[in-house]
Amino acid sequence: MEVRIERLDHYGRGITHINNKICFVENTLENEICKIKILNEKNKFIEAKTETIKEKSSDRIEEECPYSNICGGCFLNHMTYKKENEFKENKIKNIIEKYTSISPSKVTKIKYKERDYYRNKITLHGNSVLGYKKEKTNEIVKIDKCLIANKTINKIIDLIKDEKEIEEIVIKTSNDENNIMISITGKTNKLNELLEIANVLRINNEYKTKEKTIINQIGNKKYYEGLDSFFQINKDLTKELYDEIVNYIKDKKYKNVLDLYCGTGTIGIYLSDYVEKIIGVDNNKSNIEDANNNKKLNNCNNIEFICNKVENVINIFKDIELIVVDPPRKGLDDKTRNYLKTINPKSIIYVSCDPITLARDLNILNETYEVKTITPFNMFPRSYHCESVAVLERK
Ligand SMILES: C[S@@+](CC[C@H](N)C(=O)[O-])C[C@H]1O[C@@H](n2cnc3c(N)ncnc32)[C@H](O)[C@@H]1O
Repeated sequence: MEVRIERLDHYGRGITHINNKICFVENTLENEICKIKILNEKNKFIEAKTETIKEKSSDRIEEECPYSNICGGCFLNHMTYKKENEFKENKIKNIIEKYTSISPSKVTKIKYKERDYYRNKITLHGNSVLGYKKEKTNEIVKIDKCLIANKTINKIIDLIKDEKEIEEIVIKTSNDENNIMISITGKTNKLNELLEIANVLRINNEYKTKEKTIINQIGNKKYYEGLDSFFQINKDLTKELYDEIVNYIKDKKYKNVLDLYCGTGTIGIYLSDYVEKIIGVDNNKSNIEDANNNKKLNNCNNIEFICNKVENVINIFKDIELIVVDPPRKGLDDKTRNYLKTINPKSIIYVSCDPITLARDLNILNETYEVKTITPFNMFPRSYHCESVAVLERK
């Protein structure tokens, strides 16, 4: 069957219509004419794959990655980087338009850096072969290299790629790639080689190195990072994202600031030179341990950390002028969202990795706060994910 692709959905899949049903066609671009094969027909939608593309879009490029659309990671390898950034900016605008009463004109130009070799962390799974899990399955796709993992991680992939008894391996590096952390579940026959290169090596929960953390740098701040602590995975763009917040707050001389879902305290410490006092909250013990060490490492005396769920402590704060939130994908819970309004800070900065939950939360906060800007950050090139930073001011 021959179809014309009308537009892309939020996952970057082409959309067309067959017999009045919406049909999703992977790996296609707007206006392409394709011969497709139906894979799955449900009551409300159809899923199809392309057999041949009869008329190609000028935004189409050759896919460099041998695991494209197979390994479950990158689904936008077939479009130019320019097109990818346009797609993501429009995706945020469309979501804001569809799910909120906020004008999509508040979405500013997308920010981006390198398309390749940007990740400072990967996890590979093993079951006689070592690789990534195919999307929504437990099937492992063996990989020999990864275009989005940084070059140091790729050297480690090359070293361990034929191992048969590793069940899971997490490889992390500092943003400058000078420090390496590796955690293995299962067995490796490359122990000596890994000990030579890794600053931190943990096998089946037992540390084989004296060190348990590495140091990562963003701008003029240094951060300890452990194998289990959260750290932004884009080694190039994180500084830009944090600078976006600094640029907004630097002349405002805020007295009391909250950094909610603070991870290892990275944002709070980054902002600490510009405000009087900050409190960071995260529910992960290992993150808060790192955050307290980071505080010392940066001689930062105006920040305190609380290890608890945000929703358990949000009601104790008073006289707060700025709140930064950086929640996980599910966004803010009802209690936290309501308390943000009760605390009534002058400004809220919302860092989000899921535009749908961001839109839901902004639409509610919009009753008392004006959304000034929503800036998309392409923190995850080649994937359909996109980070955003929204700036809200009390009406
Ligand atoms: C997206 S990360 C933010 C990290 C940090 N702001 C950064 O830039 O590195 C989300 C964080 O929320 C924490 N978290 C998840 N649910 C939470 C909750 N209910 N209360 C407090 N922290 C939570 C996680 O431990 C994680 O560190």
